[in-house]
Amino acid sequence: MSEVHSAITAIEAFIPEYVLTNPTLSRMVDTDDQWIMSRVGIKERHILRGKGKGNSHMGAAAVEKLLQKSQTDPSEIDMLLCCTVTPDMLFPATANIICDKVGIKNAWGYDINAGCSGFVFSFSTIDAFIRSGRIKKAILVAGEKMSAIVDYKDRATCPLFGDAAVAMLIEPTTDPNVGLLDYENHVDGVGRKYLYQKAGGSCYPPTEMTVKRREHFIHQEGQQVFKYAVTNMAQVAESIMKKHHITANDVAYLIPHQANLRIIDATGQRMGLPADKVLINIERFGNTSAASIPLVLWEYENKFIKGDTLIFAAFGAGFTWGAMYYKWAY
Ligand SMILES: CC(C)(COP(=O)(O)OP(=O)(O)OC[C@H]1O[C@@H](n2cnc3c(N)ncnc32)[C@H](O)[C@@H]1OP(=O)(O)O)[C@@H](O)C(=O)NCCC(=O)NCCS
Repeated sequence: MSEVHSAITAIEAFIPEYVLTNPTLSRMVDTDDQWIMSRVGIKERHILRGKGKGNSHMGAAAVEKLLQKSQTDPSEIDMLLCCTVTPDMLFPATANIICDKVGIKNAWGYDINAGCSGFVFSFSTIDAFIRSGRIKKAILVAGEKMSAIVDYKDRATCPLFGDAAVAMLIEPTTDPNVGLLDYENHVDGVGRKYLYQKAGGSCYPPTEMTVKRREHFIHQEGQQVFKYAVTNMAQVAESIMKKHHITANDVAYLIPHQANLRIIDATGQRMGLPADKVLINIERFGNTSAASIPLVLWEYENKFIKGDTLIFAAFGAGFTWGAMYYKWAY
């Protein structure tokens, strides 16, 4: 009998209504549509508005839709992980808050913070539990309210990020032709100098001064991050293809993290893929961090055929990066 591994069996998303366009941004900071489109490839991003609405507001809505779509009772779920860098609060975990909001009572779970690689790190984690036989139905929520930590006075970062949450049901399969077949993940702390949120944790707890210095917002040295992202994301995607003797012809689609269109193009080129095999939605959503790969999967769900070879490739704060060899399961 083939070994047990994980398959995504349903996917749903919550997209906040408000759309922040480049022309609106250019009235807030000194920027313009031409600069943002040519350097990053983003036209608009969705932003969650409303007092007291955090990440779990979106995550719970996505999970509710997922349970309905897959006709799953909340009592059947035995694990829920939430990957995010923008939890509702430092504790308790947003995973727990989501479970409470949607009535999932028989599960355990926690949050995973792996920057924009949150999805690949969390899916790898769930896969280990599924393979162990202890978990039969897991939900992975990839959700970010990036607008909560974006400095809308900093023109170098505020055009980049958007908000969204995606929920997916993950179940065991023994079919060797579908599901998560392999992954390769990495971390390197060199990245902590170039992309971080300085204050609010135990190192620099919130004070009047940290607020005044705008240290609760994302700090990014864009060129450094770009350099590492372009090299590492392409390298890890290429590495998993080589390991499994996968050629560009074998790949149905590459689903890369949506941070910058130039990084995405470079990754696709290095893998020898034509542009129509590289799935993109950065133009309409921006960088939704951990939610970005799941958001592409959700949007293009109807394009996939059972057994399609997909390569997921991610890069994020830490630095973290990883790639997955996945065959679509339905
Ligand atoms: C952020 C990023 C788009 C900036 O693009 P860049 O080509 O590196 O631009 P630079 O930071 O070198 O800035 C070039 C110039 O544009 C200016 N600029 C920056 N943001 C601007 C904006 N929104 N509008 C207009 N001008 C802008 C800079 O001030 C600089 O001006 P100067 O030459 O007069 O000093 C790019 O570095 C990037 O995408 N990095 C990776 C980010 C990423 O992937 N992060 C997530 C990882 S998960």
